[in-house]
Amino acid sequence: MDLAGAEVEMVNTPKREFCLDKALKQYQGEPFDVVLVDCPPALSLLTLNVMVAADELLVPLQAEFYALEGLSQLLETMRRIRTSMNPELGLGGIVLTMVDKRNNLSQQVEAEARDYFGQQVYHQVIPRNVRLSEAPSYGMPTLYHDARSIGAQAYLNMAQEFIQRHQTT
Ligand SMILES: Nc1ncnc2c1ncn2[C@@H]1O[C@H](COP(=O)(O)OP(=O)(O)OP(=O)(O)O)[C@@H](O)[C@H]1O
Ligand SMILES: [Mg+2]
Repeated sequence: MDLAGAEVEMVNTPKREFCLDKALKQYQGEPFDVVLVDCPPALSLLTLNVMVAADELLVPLQAEFYALEGLSQLLETMRRIRTSMNPELGLGGIVLTMVDKRNNLSQQVEAEARDYFGQQVYHQVIPRNVRLSEAPSYGMPTLYHDARSIGAQAYLNMAQEFIQRHQTT
């Protein structure tokens, strides 16, 4: 709710795309390995602020028909931000989510994404899993709600892959 207000307040701020970047710079030198910032699923001023502040983007890709189209728009935006406000911005990876192995469309989206983006697509995918969708109704993160569920295990594996990918680069 606060962030909805922030969006409105930032509109008239000078250098409004750099608010988060400036805020995070205060913590430079603090012992953080990684800072993860969740974005709204739309290209708002908040998302723009994240893209300006970030070193890389980790993109969740829903295994649905329009998702690849949305992804190419996102990558185009990323290119534009790289040439204007944040030359350091990289693509940290793409994580397929809501994957249903029994669904042809889901398989097609996965195959196309891997074909086109190669190693940038995480090996680990997040399956469609009812335990993941239940967790918010209990007011809990999935790992507290049911850590042994297929969905939670997939997220843990994905986190391991994230760590591995950042150790080698
Ligand atoms: N792998 C999954 N399997 C089943 N349901 C899922 C899965 N991932 C997400 N969901 C469901 O979709 C809802 C939205 O997911 P999530 O919050 O991750 O999406 P989002 O794009 O970040 O949306 P927003 O930020 O606008 O809330 C979740 O509350 C959950 O019910
Ligand atoms: Mg979200």
